[in-house]
Amino acid sequence: GRVAVLLGGTSAEREISLISGQAVLSALQAAGVDAHAFDPAQQAIADILQFDRAFIVLHGRGGEDGTMQGALELLHIPYTGSGVLASALGMDKARTKQLWLGCGLPTPAYAQLRADTDFAQVVAQLGLPLMVKPAHEGSSIGMRKVEKAEDLQPAYAFAAQYDSEIIAESWVTGREYTVVILAGKALPVIRLQPHQSHGFYDFDAKYKANDTQYLCPCGLSPDDEATLQAIALEAFEKVGAQGWGRIDAMQDEQGNFWLLEVNTVPGMTDHSLVPMAARAAGISFQDLVLSILSQTVK
Ligand code: DAL
Ligand code: MG
Repeated sequence: GRVAVLLGGTSAEREISLISGQAVLSALQAAGVDAHAFDPAQQAIADILQFDRAFIVLHGRGGEDGTMQGALELLHIPYTGSGVLASALGMDKARTKQLWLGCGLPTPAYAQLRADTDFAQVVAQLGLPLMVKPAHEGSSIGMRKVEKAEDLQPAYAFAAQYDSEIIAESWVTGREYTVVILAGKALPVIRLQPHQSHGFYDFDAKYKANDTQYLCPCGLSPDDEATLQAIALEAFEKVGAQGWGRIDAMQDEQGNFWLLEVNTVPGMTDHSLVPMAARAAGISFQDLVLSILSQTVK
């Protein structure tokens, strides 16, 4: 049947989604699938009724957050990836962390910030540095690392331009990893090593710089890699995520793993991590998109 590749959308990650979506669309077409681009920022969602299935490559709010998934359910169009609840939860960093903490899964301590928050008290509670994040953004948009107590309020104000809920998270000193989940299995772990000039794996390090190093094999011992894969798979399943996704994590200097977040529609650009992990597992980009498409349910 006809497949709509949902790309673009209205979130701050629109430009990334256009690149991700175009890569998915080309790969599906090359595999002989009758696939067509559909940009909900330009087409009325009811027009999706001309299609039999939807491949969601929308990042951020209005696409990755359960709202599109809910619309597709009401229109009886099966779609790829996670359902309404897991999509909404995965888009919300604070509630994802609450869920993981409730399940005994490791995620750094955090506090919710508001305009009237006692910022000095947050610093006393969580220490420094801190990472300030909009609760519902992706691609590191609106995020700032805070090294000095007086920088917390300005970092909050910066993040608040992007979202109405903001969190501050304890900084984990160590190494950054990501685990791709595909069809119920964790793929080989990737280590991300942004160049020191970026300070953390920010928007530029993700999409613009060519100085971020991606290590796969990731350098963890086989036991540690298996442990991280198991934690990531459990974190994915506890959120109720389905089909495909990516869990971002850290390992601190004592060797403990910490979960940062889940992405239910991760990037699919040529700089992106899902295609990289798939390649390491011997799965071509075309087989990857066909696998995701084949898991369309509902
Ligand atoms: N939010 C971006 C697209 C990612 O997680 O890859
Ligand atoms: Mg994200």
